[in-house]
Amino acid sequence: MQNNLKDKTILIGITGGIAAYKICELIRMYKKAGANVKVVMTKNALNFVTKLTLETLSDNKVFVENFETQEREYSPEHISLCDEADIMVIAPASANTISKIATGICDNLLTSVVCAFNKPVIIAPAMNTNMWNNKIIQKNISILKENNYHILEPETGELACKTTGKGRLCDLNLIFEKTSEILGANAVGSGKLKGKKVLITAGGTIEKIDTVRYISNFSSGKMGIALADEAYKQGADVTLIITKPVETPYKTVYVQSAEEMQREVLKSGLKSDLVIMAAAVADFRAETVSKQKIKKTSADTMTLNLVKNPDILKNLCEQKKKTKNKKTVIVGFCAESENLLKNAKEKIAKKGCDYLIANDISKKDSGFSSDYNEVYILDKNGKKSHIERSLKTVIAQKILEKVFE
Ligand code: CTP
Repeated sequence: MQNNLKDKTILIGITGGIAAYKICELIRMYKKAGANVKVVMTKNALNFVTKLTLETLSDNKVFVENFETQEREYSPEHISLCDEADIMVIAPASANTISKIATGICDNLLTSVVCAFNKPVIIAPAMNTNMWNNKIIQKNISILKENNYHILEPETGELACKTTGKGRLCDLNLIFEKTSEILGANAVGSGKLKGKKVLITAGGTIEKIDTVRYISNFSSGKMGIALADEAYKQGADVTLIITKPVETPYKTVYVQSAEEMQREVLKSGLKSDLVIMAAAVADFRAETVSKQKIKKTSADTMTLNLVKNPDILKNLCEQKKKTKNKKTVIVGFCAESENLLKNAKEKIAKKGCDYLIANDISKKDSGFSSDYNEVYILDKNGKKSHIERSLKTVIAQKILEKVFE
């Protein structure tokens, strides 16, 4: 795996929450990857972890108050810390600090630094479930997301306040991977896939029934986005065809239905070096889409006639065969809830693609909507390899490595 952290300066902001102790381990992880780590903390955070511990682990002075050091006469701390760092990571981020950042309040060193920081900021909140669910906090989180802060949502589990719910600091590996991903994306162009054209589809298709209703599925699009981000990081010319609007530094095409997706895929698929169909395409769509909202009738049941959608992957593979195209590698995904490998073997033959990434969607801790996945990579010659449960960003790196082998 590429090390994007080496010689980078990571500024960690710690606020007052029990998860502050976990940041000691995060500092070790960053240091091990060769990063320079600086820490700024709120006064409340000092109740949970000591300055001495953090200074020992980070090998740097830890900052708490504004205008603390006299040595830095040339530049106030909140400015010099900003200049030095490549990225800022606020973890754990309390409800209080989140709200201050969202409203531009700068009443301590940490909030002053964030306000002046014009490079990427990751925020990993951790708090009591009711605080997390509070509408004002959620509104402030939305403000931060709209303003390009990278929010790593808390996990659900047992909390320090002896309740169970959403509020635990997310997995440290997730914070580490996100930091690496962002620093890697900022250093685009150096990668192995320079000069390669890559087309990726992501998300569940949306098949309209009438003006307000549709058929879709639970696909979050995360796997496809992780693949597109990774290909971009490695220098590829990426196009992502996706069913929800997303902001990316590469080209995205927003589509809804399988038919729209097929149009885009067939238009440029075979001009690409690699096509990955990570989208969850609906197999059926409504036979007719009502131009008005369908009204409820007195009947207790209603029948919706469905017709088959085109099989985009199969059609692209047929086009490849017909045009004797030797350049484009085509990769399909295979979501199964039972008999994973048996179904995957049948599917790769039926679709005619070069590789098939098989994942078991019945697993609760990976697959749909999760940040994690566990997959098998099958090739058309019947060879298979396994990628154990890892973050989707890591799975994406391994898939690209394999298909460009
Ligand atoms: N796919 C596609 N067009 C469709 C259905 C699926 O291009 N109409 C693609 C998906 O993007 C994926 C692969 O085919 O890369 C397999 O999708 P999956 O849903 O697992 O298989 P299906 O062909 O839909 O078969 P089934 O639902 O019966 O498992």
